[in-house]
Amino acid sequence: MKKKLLWIVGIFILIQLIPIDRTNKPVDRKQNFVDIVKPPKEVSQILINACYDCHSNEVKYPKYAYVAPISWSIKHHVNEGRERVNFSVWSTYNTDQKNHIIDDILETVESKEMPLKGYLPMHPEANLTEAQRKTFNDYFKNLQKSGNF
Ligand code: HEC
Repeated sequence: MKKKLLWIVGIFILIQLIPIDRTNKPVDRKQNFVDIVKPPKEVSQILINACYDCHSNEVKYPKYAYVAPISWSIKHHVNEGRERVNFSVWSTYNTDQKNHIIDDILETVESKEMPLKGYLPMHPEANLTEAQRKTFNDYFKNLQKSGNF
């Protein structure tokens, strides 16, 4: 019994030594969604509070993000999230990609797939109200219509 516990503790300590890249690439204001498209404050605040931790180069890692294996799961979400849409490199997407991303935003924010459910308990400010979801989606709908992105 004691030996088993020692093994578990030992493995837990060992996995802490596996390095994880938590660096954020510097944000280029010429590529950054909020700098180029200049959404109203309400919308940029929602982006920052509810989306940036997985979809930007301004990810804020909480303390528990430094403890394996939680850290692995968080890093995995950040990698996957950035792959789908990274608001810090908005200008690098072409018009088709932007249109597609906005379609996905409208769909996933309406259906409450985004922000990810597992993120909400530790980030109450990301638990968007119906009104916030509507403001956010109305903005992206109009943006898509205007083609000015
Ligand atoms: C805790 C991390 C996290 C947060 C916060 C988060 N996302 Fe995501 N997002 C992901 C991951 C991981 C994926 C890819 C896997 C998936 O689709 O579930 C994703 C996928 C997406 C996609 C692509 C959907 C698709 O069908 O491919 C869009 C668009 C998106 N997120 C928008 C948002 C918006 C907008 C917010 C804020 C309101 C947000 N996300 C908040 C992690 C996050």
